[in-house]
Amino acid sequence: MKAIPLPPTAHTPAKYSGPSADQVLALRKQYLNPGLFLYYKKPIMIVEGSMQYVWDDTGKRYLDGLGGIVTISVGHCHPHVVAAANAQNQTIQHSTTIYLQPKIAEFAEALASKMPGDLKVCYFVNSGSEANDLALMMARLYTGNYDMIALRNAYHGGNAAGMGVTAHSSWKFNVPHSFGVHHAIAPYPYRGTFGYDDPEAGRKYADDVKQVIDYTTSGKVAGFIAESIQGVGGFVVFPDGYLKQAYAHVRAAGGVCIADEVQTGFGRTGTHYWGFETQGVIPDIVTMAKGIGNGCPLAAVVTTPKIAQSLMGKVHFNTFGGNPVVSAMGKAVLEIIEKDNLQANSLKLGNHILAGLNKLKEKHKIIGDVRGKGLMLGIEMVKDRTTKEPATAECAAVLEHAREMGLLIGKGGLRGQTIRFAPPMCITQADADFLLEVLDASFAKL
Ligand SMILES: Cc1ncc(COP(=O)(O)O)c(C=O)c1O
Repeated sequence: MKAIPLPPTAHTPAKYSGPSADQVLALRKQYLNPGLFLYYKKPIMIVEGSMQYVWDDTGKRYLDGLGGIVTISVGHCHPHVVAAANAQNQTIQHSTTIYLQPKIAEFAEALASKMPGDLKVCYFVNSGSEANDLALMMARLYTGNYDMIALRNAYHGGNAAGMGVTAHSSWKFNVPHSFGVHHAIAPYPYRGTFGYDDPEAGRKYADDVKQVIDYTTSGKVAGFIAESIQGVGGFVVFPDGYLKQAYAHVRAAGGVCIADEVQTGFGRTGTHYWGFETQGVIPDIVTMAKGIGNGCPLAAVVTTPKIAQSLMGKVHFNTFGGNPVVSAMGKAVLEIIEKDNLQANSLKLGNHILAGLNKLKEKHKIIGDVRGKGLMLGIEMVKDRTTKEPATAECAAVLEHAREMGLLIGKGGLRGQTIRFAPPMCITQADADFLLEVLDASFAKL
């Protein structure tokens, strides 16, 4: 078969001279936790990145269609972000929040300016899991209630709090967790009871939130947490009106609403800066990570001044949260999203790719559903379109074929049946066409 050419790049990678992939694999096996998992039968070792491309140790280039799991928002080693990090690294790297620090204050102001409504107070942490842990605590402290409603098919992190609100058996260890957490039905039109053809699906799925409150709690709840599009769950887009109705039920029961924007924030959905805006709601607390730092360990909880007061009762401290280097990088990311028009690019190329994926669906029977917004697109694979039996092995095979052809993509869903595509938002039309051609060829190889 004729090779599909990757669009050209001006970047020439340095010659890699470090340990080989086999040596690194051996070190990893000996010294790193065996619970860490790897993609691909023959694991790939990425040693350099520039914007939407990465290079492995052999010098082979790939289009990064997953962005380090939805994390590289503006492009690998974006020069503006690198310059901000370098300048800060040479000035002061760490001081903690017990002293005044200009970078964290400037970054908080810039981030708050991107938020709607009264969402104006930031608390910086280091990961999405930490952000969700803090958000749950704030919801409980603020309301004085304990019960939390989360959604099935959700992923919110790997620490105790995050795992508690996560609802995928694959990500939950058999240890005590989820105290006071109740999971409502996932608003998953492709697999759920109410499909794409039901204009009332949003309201009907939200009714389950009310049922869960009425039947499984005291009737008073601390809050509700949901991703704005379920990420690890396979890029599940909620039906219109879902969050609006669900929020109304939660607020009527005394709870606050938390939007987990760890994957959906910063313009990725194209039409809006924040995923929750695609549902026409304003949450009470927003958690963010991944794309906020374009690859540095940075995350945040943003809430209203009133809810933020909930942390005043005790001393609460996070050593690295909002450290000068990550704050400088976070501010640079916000600037570049504006300057490079990345939200508009997400919309334009996202729509282009979505149209292409829908054409692939007509051609390849194994594609059950195509969905997503902006540059957050999923292809759910099924062995049979009637039974919708997940095509887990075939999905893994598509990842392998695409990798051979120079495209890295991800997978998600309870059974690993959904291809996930979330590249840096700087991709071009040529990259989008390359992606579609490679996917077509990968499906054809099955
Ligand atoms: C929606 C969502 N929330 C929270 C997290 C946890 O973030 P972290 O891995 O930074 O702890 C993730 C990670 O994949 C996520 O996708």
